Amino acid sequence: NGFNVAVAGATGAVGVEMVKTLEKRNFPVKNLKLLASARSAGKTMKFKGEDVVIEEMTHDSFKGVDIALFSAGGDISREYRPFVVESGAVMIDNSSAFRMDDDVPLVVPEVNAEDIKLHKGVIANPNCTTAIMLVAVAPLHRAKGLRRIVAATYQAASGAGAKGMHELIVQAREVLDGKAVNPVAFAHQIAFNLIPHIDAFKENGYTKEELKMLNESRKMLHLPELLVSCTCVRIPVLRAHSEALNLEFENDITPEEARAIIEAAPGVQLVDDPADKRYPMPLDATEKYDVLCGRIRQDISRNDKRGLDIFVSGDQVLKGAALNAVQIAELL
Ligand code: A2P
Repeated sequence: NGFNVAVAGATGAVGVEMVKTLEKRNFPVKNLKLLASARSAGKTMKFKGEDVVIEEMTHDSFKGVDIALFSAGGDISREYRPFVVESGAVMIDNSSAFRMDDDVPLVVPEVNAEDIKLHKGVIANPNCTTAIMLVAVAPLHRAKGLRRIVAATYQAASGAGAKGMHELIVQAREVLDGKAVNPVAFAHQIAFNLIPHIDAFKENGYTKEELKMLNESRKMLHLPELLVSCTCVRIPVLRAHSEALNLEFENDITPEEARAIIEAAPGVQLVDDPADKRYPMPLDATEKYDVLCGRIRQDISRNDKRGLDIFVSGDQVLKGAALNAVQIAELL
């Protein structure tokens, strides 16, 4: 018994973690199909102690598949969507291709699990930075009514896939050895630097990544009027994203109340004891399912109690992608 599951992009930074997460969470897999490009076909990956041979993905790969987890980029998702849906499989897509489509639910189970019911064959995984933010922000919103977010992000190299992580490691060594660097995955040198540029710039000066924080948050929280301004920054960290969030609510909220709400919420762990040097950090969030939330304080730039500042760190590859996709499959 169980489900026939396919992982499209199984060899990528996210795909590898999708396979590991299916195993770790004991997802009821009857048969697992690992799909990638022709470059990887014939290689094997381990699943539950067994070698599974990677197949080249073709339009026919989805016959008999129940759930297809996609993380091979937006163009591939667009190309394959009709074939996946026609085969009767449900596509859980990690790319940005369909996130804002009206007939595609955009889901983080801790935030809007009920939206999954509206799917017509495709469910989208949100942008990683948005997913990590909303796991912490949604419970605060449910209690106090969110109005506005001003955010700065500190995003890991893993957001650019396996090649991004590789580039950071290789480049760090090159810099230490006094060698010339050759940026490919990022617009500039990322080792010993940071880059306030993720994805393409739009006419209003924001990047697409920054506008995803606005548009995807509005969709998932069902708050079409929510105000969000964000600066997204790539930093030389391997695989967990962090975010400084200034939050404005309809109602008064104290740091004590916020801590109690975060402590009781699923998918987020309170790490907030500055006197003991305890706060969220990307190294501590790495390989954790939970998003870490701390540095909770009243916004002193306001003369009311409707503002909070918080800091979150979450594993970009897990809650930002692979884990969230597997959690959606569990809901299904
Ligand atoms: P491959 O390793 O064979 O190139 P990342 O996000 O880490 O860069 O990973 C991208 C994933 O998408 C990889 O698993 C990659 O497979 C896969 N992929 C890239 N192009 C194709 C394609 N044309 N068909 C199927 N899978 C692809």
